[in-house]
Amino acid sequence: MLGATPKLCYPIRAMSESEVQGTPSAPKEVHDLKDMADLVSLCKRRGFVFPSSEVYGGINACWDYGPLGIELKRNVKEAWWRAMVDREDVEGLDAAILMHPKVWEASGHVATFSDPLVDCKKCKSRFRADKIPAENLASKKCPECGGELTEPRNFNLMFKTFMGPVEEAANIVYLRPETAQGIYVNFLNVQQSSRQKLPFGIAQIGKAFRNEITPGNFIFRTREFEQMEMQYFVKPGSDMDWFEKWKAIRIQWHLDNGIRKEKLRFHEHGPGELAHYARAAFDIEYEFPFGWQELEGIHNRTDFDLGRHQQYSGKKLEYFDEESKERYIPYIVETSAGCDRTLLVALVDAYRTDGDRIWLSLHPKLAPYKVAIYPLMKKPELREFSDKLFSEVRKKFRATTDDAGSIGKRYRRQDEIGTPFGVTIDYDTLSNGTVTIRHRDSMAQERVSAENLVRYIEEKFENWGK
Ligand code: GAP
Repeated sequence: MLGATPKLCYPIRAMSESEVQGTPSAPKEVHDLKDMADLVSLCKRRGFVFPSSEVYGGINACWDYGPLGIELKRNVKEAWWRAMVDREDVEGLDAAILMHPKVWEASGHVATFSDPLVDCKKCKSRFRADKIPAENLASKKCPECGGELTEPRNFNLMFKTFMGPVEEAANIVYLRPETAQGIYVNFLNVQQSSRQKLPFGIAQIGKAFRNEITPGNFIFRTREFEQMEMQYFVKPGSDMDWFEKWKAIRIQWHLDNGIRKEKLRFHEHGPGELAHYARAAFDIEYEFPFGWQELEGIHNRTDFDLGRHQQYSGKKLEYFDEESKERYIPYIVETSAGCDRTLLVALVDAYRTDGDRIWLSLHPKLAPYKVAIYPLMKKPELREFSDKLFSEVRKKFRATTDDAGSIGKRYRRQDEIGTPFGVTIDYDTLSNGTVTIRHRDSMAQERVSAENLVRYIEEKFENWGK
């Protein structure tokens, strides 16, 4: 099938790239990402993320995912969905972005989903009042230019639009600022149709919109983003146990994606930070080049949400507990991760450079491509073997092929997009059926049998990080 095929013969021998090229050199110091601009540039150059509407000069804090960005994003979502919904006790949902406006009154968003805002009268800069030094706020002095600041005023973060042709107050609807409310209002629909008993969860991935005052840091804080949220409905009294369980499950998920342990930590919300609905809240934080910041929130939301929707809709949202024969409003433990922010963490955490080479040390389950296949030269006989091998490999893994430029340049291109393995077909391949497999992170090279290539890669992926 793939030309001459020797018996199982992997690995034949492992060699470093410099050894293969005959230029051994001292190992270089490897650095993490220091400057976000380097990542923004890589993302543009390689097709992960582009500024939105770039030909018109872009639009503030909106970004488009290119061919590799969308692959990475799909992999993030797939990893989340598998971990969160491939369980007996969780069901999936995809609720509409536009919801009845009363939803946002009941949830508290109309009244309280706002940030205090101050403007500088001189340089026109705009700040969140809670994010500037207290002395600037007290003296009304702009932290940028020293000009006079306005009094803080509350600015609601929800985007408004109109439903139907008439633009009047009665027709205002909001773009949802979180996916969670779509789950709460469907609690009984899902529970009854799926015949779930407490405790059980409902999970959803979807767009959310916030008219953020200070968006920025690339895709860290944007005005349009995706959330991956799960609401776990539990019997009152068992909520803190479940809260602790979900905290542990969620941090483990980030570790399973290959994120370095020392870059993750929990941050507990103190009394001043707790949202109006929460009894307890922890953030999972990541250490970005711009400091420790929230990646995901885990909240004990009590019976606040279902209680409010019951009150505002006039419809009972109670659960009948067949065991205890009681009716009650369940408590909710929420896990809420930003999809874009998880993707950003994957990129930041994976970014490595030794001064010459840049590579993304992505976990294979997140990497856009798992394998790249290269014919050493553009010769028909090498191309033919390479095409056959490529079509075999891509049955199993997302793969790419590249025959343009020197093999070194081709390796570098794939390093920058995080492809874990490169496979080169040369003249030895035609005579003995072996190919060179190159490892992204170590640059080590091995000769393996083309016949066993898929199994070889599968084994490496199964044992990744072990
Ligand atoms: N339902 C609860 C909720 O929405 P949140 O802490 O406001 O809680 C949850 O948001 C997660 O959504 C955050 O941890 C973050 O990952 C992501 N997120 C929130 N605002 C964002 C924004 N403007 N841009 C990108 N991601 C955002």
